[in-house]
Order: sequence, then structure tokens, then C-alpha cells
Amino acid sequence: MPLASLFSELHLLLEQHQSIWRANPFREHNPDWMNAYPNLAQQVVALDEETVELLEQDPAEASKRFSPSLPDLNALIRLCQLSTLKAELPQNVDNRQFSHIPGRKWTQIAAFTASMGQPKGPVLEWCAGKGHLGRLIGQQYQVEVTSLEWDAVLCEEGEKLAYRAALPQRFVCADALDHRAAQEVKQNQHAVALHACGDLHGQLLRHAAEQSTAALTVSPCCYHLTRNALYQPFSISGERHNLALSREELRIAVQETATAPKRVQRLRGKEMSYRLGYQALVEQVAPEQRDEGVPSCKKQRFGEGFASFCHWAAGEKGITLPDNLDWLGLEQEGQKRWHLVRRLSLVRSLFSRPLELYLVLDRACYLEEQGYRVTLARFTDRATTPRNLLIQAERIAL
Ligand SMILES: C[S@@+](CC[C@H](N)C(=O)[O-])C[C@H]1O[C@@H](n2cnc3c(N)ncnc32)[C@H](O)[C@@H]1O
Repeated sequence: MPLASLFSELHLLLEQHQSIWRANPFREHNPDWMNAYPNLAQQVVALDEETVELLEQDPAEASKRFSPSLPDLNALIRLCQLSTLKAELPQNVDNRQFSHIPGRKWTQIAAFTASMGQPKGPVLEWCAGKGHLGRLIGQQYQVEVTSLEWDAVLCEEGEKLAYRAALPQRFVCADALDHRAAQEVKQNQHAVALHACGDLHGQLLRHAAEQSTAALTVSPCCYHLTRNALYQPFSISGERHNLALSREELRIAVQETATAPKRVQRLRGKEMSYRLGYQALVEQVAPEQRDEGVPSCKKQRFGEGFASFCHWAAGEKGITLPDNLDWLGLEQEGQKRWHLVRRLSLVRSLFSRPLELYLVLDRACYLEEQGYRVTLARFTDRATTPRNLLIQAERIAL
């Protein structure tokens, strides 16, 4: 299906179901969609702990379970099915140059490098870190690489690694949002970006379109890290199909259902129950501050007990607590809310991938509108990284 048609269909389904994914379970404990979809509401509220844990870690299984109560879910899943690229690296890897890269990161950069194929010119690596990706691309395809990164320590370490590997990789230490970085984007170039956040990869797409850069291979990340309070579409199609997403809604697209060890899961449960218990407390004693949220803090604070946590959080917000509080009741209310939030979040996460694809399609359509031939695929499996969508764009010769 043409990308613009896919975008339009996906937009329609997202718009039709916005009451579900826009409802933030931390703020709305009885969202409107529960009346509109009573079977889904009943099903999710009745889930036992073990099933919740299973579905949190297995979005495909969650979609399967909930689709009878949410008929359009199957259509949404079908739209999100992209092929996975299965390319092999063209050359042997010199293990001495890459063995220090942690397993999952290595799998990502190897899959990215294999998927992009022979670069269409010298490579510009955007937000490079130590430039591992650029180094592998340089070694595999015998091309010059410029790696742009703003952290001077990472640049220095990257330079040493490139020198040791005797590869033509140079580092530019610059802010990707600055004019200095813009000067590095050129016409005869293949620009790559692996997991550059929101505005950072956005800036690369705009510079590349302006410079008619020959090709781009980009796997975007963290769409919510943007200076705009509301999502600003890249493409004309995006303007037409604008969902006006807030930062909080953009975050849904990258919500992890990470497989955390049991101990970490327990700690998270405690933290969330405390935060929601504190929210119940604020509703009682300072309702005007209900939406202000809870300050972030070190994990140790949750080891000091619920009342101690609330005293600290209230102090941070300048709220004076009365003496006669029902601490046990508030703590139990927090646990009750967390129980419900986890279940409502499962329903919201059904829309994570569709929202992510919606955002990627806006970028892909933008590049098409700017004169590129664009393809979209997954470059690796979800276990290696859930941020596995890859935009490949090649400038159409005029
Ligand atoms: C998520 S990491 C990705 C690194 C690398 N591409 C990879 O996949 O391993 C993002 C990188 O962007 C860099 N970065 C963040 N903000 C930046 C900015 N404004 N300009 C340039 N680099 C930036 C960070 O220092 C970090 O190295």
C-alpha cells in the first residue's frame, strides 16, 4: 500500500478510537471509553495479576485477547505489519574493533548496517555517541564517515576507536540543533541516524531535504523529546491528518513493556502505589494542586515508608499536611489505584505501535513530498529493540 494511503487509514482508526488512547490512566480512573466499550472494560478490570504481567510483556498476545471486545483492533494490527529486513553484513567483522560493544547494541548496529546496503555517498552519522555505527559502516562499505555528536568525551573516545581501527572516520563535536551541525549536511552524502531523539532526528530530515542529500537511513526514537508543546507535523499529509498530539500522548508511542526482573517490578509497583496514594491525599487536602504531579526522587525514598514519602512530597510542593490523616486508608487507596492503572494501561498500550507508525509515516511522507523514494521496514526484532522501524529514503534523480 502506498505510504500516504497507509498513513490516511491509520489516522482514521486512531481518530475513531482516540477516547481510549488519549485517556491517561494516571489521571482518569473511570475514562469515558469504559462506557462505550463495556465488554472491553469488564474484561480488562477482571484480569488477574499473572495475566497482567504476561500481557504487559507480550503486546501481540494482548491484542489477540482484546480484539473480540475491540473489533477494529485487527484492522489496526494489519496496518502495522511491516516486513523485517534480513540482510547480512557484506564483510567479515574485525572482532578486535567491535567486541567491547554490549550485545544488544551490537545486534542493532549490525542489523542497521546490513539493512542500509552500500551507502550512496560519504556517510554522515547524526547523534553518533562513540560512533560505533559509523565505524561499522566505514569498515563494511569502505566509505568515509563523519560522526556528529555533542558530547566531547564521546567524540574523543570515538576518535581513538576509529584511529585504532585505521578507518577514515572524523568526529564533529556540535549541537545537532545548531547552525554548525547544519553545515555538515551535504548533497553528496548518505545520512544515518540510529535512535536520535525527537527534534534531533527531525532536524536532520529537514536539513537533508533542504540540501537534497542523496540518501537517508533513519530509525527514530523518543518522539516526545521536542520543544513543541503540541506535535507539529512534518508532511502536508500530516497537516491533513493532524492528531494534535501532546507530549504526554507522544510518549505512548515509545512506552516500553520492558521485561524487568521480578525485584524491579515489585519496586515499581511500590513506587507507583505510593505516588497514586499521594495523589489521593492531595485530592483531599489541596485539590487545586491535584494535577501538579509528584516530584521525581531517588528510589531509596520509597524504602522509608508511605507516610514519610508523602511528607517529603508535600514539603516539596509547599503543602501543609493535617495531623489526623488515615495513612493506612490512603496507602490502600494507592494500591487500589495502581491495580486499576495497570489494567487501563494495557488497553492504552494497544495503541503504542499504531501511534509510533503514525509518527514514522509522517516523516516518511515528508521525505516523499520532498522528492525521495521511501521505504519503511523493521530492521531488527522487538526483543533487540522495540524502536526497530527504519526509514530508508533515496533522492529521485531530477
Ligand atoms: C540515544 S543516543 C544514540 C547514540 C547512537 N546513535 C547509538 O545508537 O548508539 C543519542 C546520542 O545523541 C547525543 N545527543 C543528544 N543531544 C544532542 C545534540 N543536541 N546534539 C548532538 N548530539 C546529541 C547524545 O549525547 C547521545 O550520544
